[in-house]
Parts: sequence; structure tokens; C-alpha cells
Amino acid sequence: MKRALITGITGQDGSYLAEFLLARPDYEVHGLVRRSSSLNRQRIDHLFAIDPSVHDRLHLHYADLADASSLAMVMEKVRPSEVYNLGAQSHVRVSFDQPLYTADVVGSGTLRLLEAVRHLNQSQPVRFYQASSSEMFGSAPPPQDLNTPFHPRSPYACAKLYGHWQTINYREAYGMFACSGVLFNHESPRRGESFVTRKVTLGATRIKEGLQKKLVMGNLDSKRDWGFAGDYVRAMWMMLQAETPDDYVVATGETHSVRELLELAFSLVDLDYHDYVEFDPRYTRPSEVDVLLGDPTKAREALGWRPEVDFRGLITMMVEHDLEQARRERFASTYRKS
Ligand code: NAP
Ligand code: GDD
Repeated sequence: MKRALITGITGQDGSYLAEFLLARPDYEVHGLVRRSSSLNRQRIDHLFAIDPSVHDRLHLHYADLADASSLAMVMEKVRPSEVYNLGAQSHVRVSFDQPLYTADVVGSGTLRLLEAVRHLNQSQPVRFYQASSSEMFGSAPPPQDLNTPFHPRSPYACAKLYGHWQTINYREAYGMFACSGVLFNHESPRRGESFVTRKVTLGATRIKEGLQKKLVMGNLDSKRDWGFAGDYVRAMWMMLQAETPDDYVVATGETHSVRELLELAFSLVDLDYHDYVEFDPRYTRPSEVDVLLGDPTKAREALGWRPEVDFRGLITMMVEHDLEQARRERFASTYRKS
């Protein structure tokens, strides 16, 4: 049995990664969860239905990236062979409101986890994956790959850059099997509701079903290289199965503007976004990343990784999911009123 430890298992990527690993009978999966006043396990509840063995192969542990002692305790208890560091305050706009907290969890949190892994690595081999981000490229002109100089434009991006370099330094200083995956934006029906793709697919479908009248947005001109989260967690796993540790860009190699996203999502429900979208500066950022476009050649050539879902397929998948959800909500409210 391989034993994987995932920080951020309750998030979008953590849930897809856990699902991917549990579909393989040779994996036991351990996830870190944070204590909160209400349970936040919607993205992983369904995993227990994969097959009866999951009850013995999926384990959750309370810990926090801000708390070094909890990380050391879980590491010692689980003794994983693979560690995936996906936990983060991952919202770029929010990182301007909470820069110190973001730096602590995203930057120092990675270092705390690396230290716990280094300690365990002295008695058994451990492979480490760091969830780095295309945000680190910031204002560097596209296309971006690992030869592109970083120019971060948010507290979140600066913190991710710190975690990226710490990961590389632990590999070079201690010979650890540590990889940094520089992933471009990836989305899914499990995407958090305040990220732009999900905000748009939820907005368009709720407007279609009469549950919402308008959609208030920020900068429509920025461009992103959007892929499907299910494809991207496969790349994380492939990095840790390689013979030698290395860093990779994971992207589709295509970029689209927020405006194109709106056009597509609204057209899928036969609406014109111009009739519903309004601007509010509250949704802009003090410094913006204008264009992200990744070059995934290295991941394709060295790992054999390729994305299976394209931009249109991704947004269609999200719109279909959210339309179904909006219809259920409308039926429920009609039923309550009758
Ligand atoms: P997400 O949905 O926001 O999930 C973040 C996860 O981190 C959640 O499980 C959250 O737990 C957990 N977390 C937050 N603060 C924590 C703390 N102090 N200690 C331990 N866990 C904590 O993010 P995602 O989209 O899955 O992204 C996964 C990782 O990839 C993140 O590191 C993100 O920055 C990075 N990344 C994402 C993308 C993308 O486009 N999705 C691209 C590049 C890099 P709760 O459920 O309790 O809040
Ligand atoms: N969230 C949001 N809400 N973004 C908006 C809105 C809005 O109402 N209106 C326009 N945008 C623009 C943002 O200004 C940004 O240029 C773009 O849409 C994408 O925003 P997000 O979906 O919030 O993602 P992000 O690119 O800032 O960050 C995501 O991708 C990174 C990888 O590049 C996050 O998942 C990060 O955690 C990740 O590292």
C-alpha cells in the first residue's frame, strides 16, 4: 500500500486528487482538515461511496498549516510515502485584505510542512508535491514557462513564490524528492463560488432559472489559461511517480478573456451577457495579472501528461452542473410557496 497525505483535501483539487488516488486499490489516503464551527466536507463526502474499502482507506486528521506541532504529529502518526501540499488561502483578491495571514499559511505553512517531511525523510523515503501557481508569473509577458522570470503581483503570489523556492531548496540542500507544480488556473463544478468561472456559470444558470437578476463583475479584460481540475491532479501524481524530482508547468496552452468566458457561459443557456452583467470596482484588484498563457511542453514530453478537457468542454460541464442545481433550487422554492 502507498500512503498519501493531502493538505487541503476539502478543497477543489484535494477532492479530485483523493478521488483519483482512491480509485487505485494500492493507495491509502490521509487528509488534513481544519476545525470549524460547521462541517465543510461537501466535496469529499461522496468518496466513501466509491467502494466499501474506502472506509478503511480514507482517514481525516485535524491539523493546520499555521500550526507546526500539528503537522509534525500527523506526519509521525501517518508516516506517508507521498505528501501533496494543496492547503492554502487560495483567493488572490482576499490576499490583499489578509496579506499577513496569506503569507503565514501559504508561505510559512509550506516551510513548516517541508520541515516535518524532512524529519520523516531521515527514517523513510517521502515524496513531496508543492502546489505552486501561475500567479507567480504575474506581469511577465506570455507564453510563460519555467524559464520565464517571475514577477508576482499579489500577496498570494509572493507567498507562493516563497513556497516554490523553499521546495527547490529542500531538494537541493537535503536531496529530498520534492517537486513544484506550477499550475495554471483549473476549474470544475467543485470550484469555489467566488472564483470567476464558477461565479459566471452559477450566475448565468441562476439568471436563466429566475433566481437572480444580474451578475456584478470586476475586470473583464484579463485573460487566463483555464483547464479542468481533474486533468491537473493527474499531473501532480505523475510528478511524484517520475524517476527524479523536478518542477513542471501544467497548462492547456490556450488563453481566453473573462469576456469570452461570459459570452460562452451565457450563450449555453441562450442568454446575452450584455443584458445582465454590471461592473463593480469592489471586484477589481490593486494590481492585476493581465495575461496568463502556459507552455506545458515539458510536462508533455517528460511525463506524458496532456489535458483531456478543453475550454468549451470545461465551461459546458460547469454550466450543465449549475443549471441542474438551479433547477432543483427553483423547484424547491416553488414547492415551498404552494
Ligand atoms: P481551494 O478549493 O481554495 O482549497 C484550499 C484548501 O486549503 C481547503 O481544503 C482549505 O480548507 C485548505 N486550507 C486553507 N487554509 C488552511 C490552513 N491554514 N491549514 C490547512 N489547510 C488549509 O483551492 P484549490 O483550488 O483546490 O487549490 C489547491 C491548491 O493549489 C492551493 O494551494 C492553491 O493555492 C493552488 N493552486 C490552485 C490553482 C487553481 O486554479 N485552482 C492554480 C494554481 C495553484 P477549508 O475547506 O477548511 O477551507
Ligand atoms: N474572482 C473574481 N470575481 N474574479 C474576477 C471577477 C469577479 O467578480 N471579475 C473579473 N475577475 C477577474 C480577476 O480580476 C482575474 O483577472 C480573473 O477574473 C480570474 O480571477 P479568479 O477566478 O479569482 O482567479 P485568479 O486567476 O485570480 O487565481 C486563481 O488562479 C491562480 C492560478 O493562476 C486561484 O485559483 C489561485 O489560487 C491560483 O493560484
